[in-house]
Amino acid sequence: MVGMPTPEQIREALTRVIDPELRKDIVSLGMVRSIDQPQPGRVDVVVSLTTPGCPIRNHFQQAVTQNLTALEGVTQVNVGFDVLSEQEKQGLAQRLGRQGGLPEGALARVKNIICVGSGKGGVGKSTITANLAYALQVEGRPAAALDADVWGYSIPRMLGVHGRPLVSAERKILPLDGPGGVKAISIEYFLNERDQAITWRGPMLHKAIRQFLEDVDWGELDYLLIDLPPGTGDVSMTLAQLLPQAKFVIVTTPQPAAQKVAARAAETALRFDLEIAGVIENMSGFTTPTGERFTIFGEGGGQLLADQLDVPLLGKIPLQEELRVCADEGRPLVLDDPDVPAAQAIYHAAHGIVAATPQELPVMQAPSGPPVPQVTGTALPMAR
Ligand SMILES: Nc1ncnc2c1ncn2[C@@H]1O[C@H](COP(=O)(O)OP(=O)(O)OP(=O)(O)O)[C@@H](O)[C@H]1O
Ligand SMILES: [Mg+2]
Repeated sequence: MVGMPTPEQIREALTRVIDPELRKDIVSLGMVRSIDQPQPGRVDVVVSLTTPGCPIRNHFQQAVTQNLTALEGVTQVNVGFDVLSEQEKQGLAQRLGRQGGLPEGALARVKNIICVGSGKGGVGKSTITANLAYALQVEGRPAAALDADVWGYSIPRMLGVHGRPLVSAERKILPLDGPGGVKAISIEYFLNERDQAITWRGPMLHKAIRQFLEDVDWGELDYLLIDLPPGTGDVSMTLAQLLPQAKFVIVTTPQPAAQKVAARAAETALRFDLEIAGVIENMSGFTTPTGERFTIFGEGGGQLLADQLDVPLLGKIPLQEELRVCADEGRPLVLDDPDVPAAQAIYHAAHGIVAATPQELPVMQAPSGPPVPQVTGTALPMAR
């Protein structure tokens, strides 16, 4: 009879099972709850998930089975699942290199932080972020846009705000002012040439995003809107780690296929216990000048996703050429032509966001957990 692998060999094989979002193996993430060998040839493994409905369950099921049946002597693999406790989730966040959040006082005068995300690219996150910032500002809610899309930054172009930020006497970066007083920060403001390519990943990226939050004097804001890059990658993870108080707004197009991808972005937020404030459906139909309506990207996906996440559908923004033209020319449609349907839908979404968010300053909590090593140096090319 062939011998069974030792528990060490099994653990070693499980280090080849990678969490596709966290990009680390389940052993070092502390997600292997138990390993049992109840009878010859059989291995039972329990994997702990961050949320009960984790859609990557199937991935783990297959990867664990595949890696363990590859071991000599293993003929049967049973994979069970449970959920990490709150404390274990915090431990996981620490293992992921959470720096204990931002220092006390950073963003202390910002009432609400809203990350605008989606599962895939080109669904209108940046257009919506820029226009929402203006809509909120018009409604008397001081707002700013932080461009966290370090590789594909587009907030400066959409707001029509370019330039170099000044540094205050307190050595804080001052965001640029757009029309109406909307503040903006983007990596573009720190580059020597516009359209210079940024290839940062991992730690550099983390540092730049951290500086946007920590070293920028955002002043008093009702809303700091963060334009996320497409997908559920490094930036979203960093923000989720640094801003446990942030809420997410998920943008999706109306077809059910897109809604599935958007659900994955929502899943990332939920894995880190970030609240989802609502869903915005974009590119919801096109109406011709004669009033004929075409549902070019299908219908119903936004409502479906909102129902699935049990959050409000904040708005359905139709396809409208003016929205694209204004974005290209650096003029916010909501200011330029506030009565057209797309602008109205964005105002509607802004009202929904106001209704879904508190209007008081957050109560500052002392950072919990072990003392945090200070990050030194800067990522932004500031010395000039
Ligand atoms: N409702 C709309 N009607 C017409 N054009 C739109 C609409 N929403 C977005 N657009 C246009 O679609 C293009 C993509 O939008 P945008 O850049 O905002 O998407 P994104 O999700 O931020 O993309 P990325 O993932 O690349 O960051 C832009 O040219 C924008 O002006
Ligand atoms: Mg964008």
